[in-house]
Amino acid sequence: MIKTWWKESVVYQIYPRSFMDSNGDGVGDLRGITSRLDYLKNLGIDVIWLSPVYKSPNDDNGYDVSDYQDIMDEFGTMQDWEELITEIHNRGMKLIMDLVVNHSSDEHVWFQESRKSKDNPYRDYYIWREGQDGHEPNNWVSCFSGSAWQYDEQTGEYYLHLFSKKQPDLNWENPKVRQEVYDMMKWWLDKGIDGFRMDVINFISKVEGLPDAPNHGDSRYAWGGEFFMNGPRIHEFLQEMNREVLSKYECMTVGEMPGVTPDEAVLYTADDRHEVNMVFQFEHMDLDSGPGGKWDLKPWTLHGLKDTMSKWQRELNGRGWNSLYLNNHDQPRLVSRFGDDQRYRLESAKMLATFLHMMQGTPYVYQGEEIGMTNVRFETIEEYQDIETLNMYREKRAEGVPHEQLMKSIYVKGRDNARTPVQWDDSANAGFTTGTPWLKVNPNYTEINAKQAINDPNSVYNYYRQLIQLRKQHEVIVYGDYELILPDHEQIYAYTRTLGNEKLLVICNFFGGEPVFTLPEEIAFGEKELLISNYEVDGAGEIGEIELRPYETRVYKLK
Ligand code: NOJ
Repeated sequence: MIKTWWKESVVYQIYPRSFMDSNGDGVGDLRGITSRLDYLKNLGIDVIWLSPVYKSPNDDNGYDVSDYQDIMDEFGTMQDWEELITEIHNRGMKLIMDLVVNHSSDEHVWFQESRKSKDNPYRDYYIWREGQDGHEPNNWVSCFSGSAWQYDEQTGEYYLHLFSKKQPDLNWENPKVRQEVYDMMKWWLDKGIDGFRMDVINFISKVEGLPDAPNHGDSRYAWGGEFFMNGPRIHEFLQEMNREVLSKYECMTVGEMPGVTPDEAVLYTADDRHEVNMVFQFEHMDLDSGPGGKWDLKPWTLHGLKDTMSKWQRELNGRGWNSLYLNNHDQPRLVSRFGDDQRYRLESAKMLATFLHMMQGTPYVYQGEEIGMTNVRFETIEEYQDIETLNMYREKRAEGVPHEQLMKSIYVKGRDNARTPVQWDDSANAGFTTGTPWLKVNPNYTEINAKQAINDPNSVYNYYRQLIQLRKQHEVIVYGDYELILPDHEQIYAYTRTLGNEKLLVICNFFGGEPVFTLPEEIAFGEKELLISNYEVDGAGEIGEIELRPYETRVYKLK
């Protein structure tokens, strides 16, 4: 396995709108980020991933880009951005930017031109089709509800939008589009950035003819993923991008890839294929979704988690590379989803962090995770801001689904759970802004905040610091082979990592009970060292049988 810096790094994701507001307009901004860089450095972060900061009308909070080479007004200026990257580099950290090129905003000049006439030079930058018998060109449903097609009066045709109707899909079949994207990427890399996180990048190649999706439900629209996820030309496009752009720079790339399998992930990330460095896969994020999709709630199970995580650990080992995450700006807070965000918030947040950071792959920390921020419950739908949530609510209410049922799903899965402002201290609005925040702060900020966490040796923040340090000290954490132990245990998730004659033993009690961990006989060792734990532990104590406390976690190094 090739050893490189991006395998050894820990990445921190910033969702700029919610990170830190420097000018009192209620919206986070670039200068706000710059003001908090020491906090990230102190945490031990190597790489910052910035969610989109480009010009945008904010239909989807910046994932609808109207100018890829300019900064969103609310976030500041290009000069602020230059200052940010300089300060990041001054501290020895790196910066990767979000690359959102499956679609642009409908306010991008390319689309403004494209919609003007059928013979406009930009027409083929997007995916336009005639309707069929007064209907959309096919039956695909948008990821944000409703048809994936929007009729445009001006030319009497429909355009494809896999997300909101203000996010028209770019036509990657058009070589001019690809060239524009590559030029833009080079422009940013020449400005000194260290790589890209690529938004739904495995959606860019659509199956020719855009066939109807098989429809099993009663809606007119159906999920057409098989016709655009990991499509026919995806590897060709990514290899071209790599050849034209990425190979010319020392940079890192992570492709967000819903629906990717381990075998496909190997194709995307194997060193000799020259596509991207690692993927964000979603299988573990789907463990608590029923057949109706993310809003169709179903409890996750420890067996499901073991199966999924272990499969990815095994199948990518030595063949590709994975990223490790349990939440981000699209997912609920990890401690609320997989832990106990009340009685055992500290213990379970630390256990989940250990569980994740000790696996093979590059760990990602999403802002606020490091202080154990939790999901939020707003009383009214009006307090929510996210387009996915609001579209779903509107559509399902129109179908007659009761308000209470929808709010329940939103409390568990809504994206605004992760987007409430970062809780910096216990002053008004959690110290995020002196104005009115664009999305309300979680009322628990008086207890859960960064100021408290930095000063408390027992905090989640200080635990993350330790975890991140360990990664720098023990190669086995980065490169070791993974093996699941006690596969059938109902409460304990335990595994080992092995590199040469070193072995890590990772023990995680996933629930509030007190199960006994029994060390499998085949794990023989001479010396042991306790690397980290979330309760007081006598490091010299026997480990053949351990009575675990609620959400207890320990990592031993065995030799
Ligand atoms: C994935 C992003 O993470 C999400 O926030 C966004 O809404 C969609 N892609 C569309 O860009």
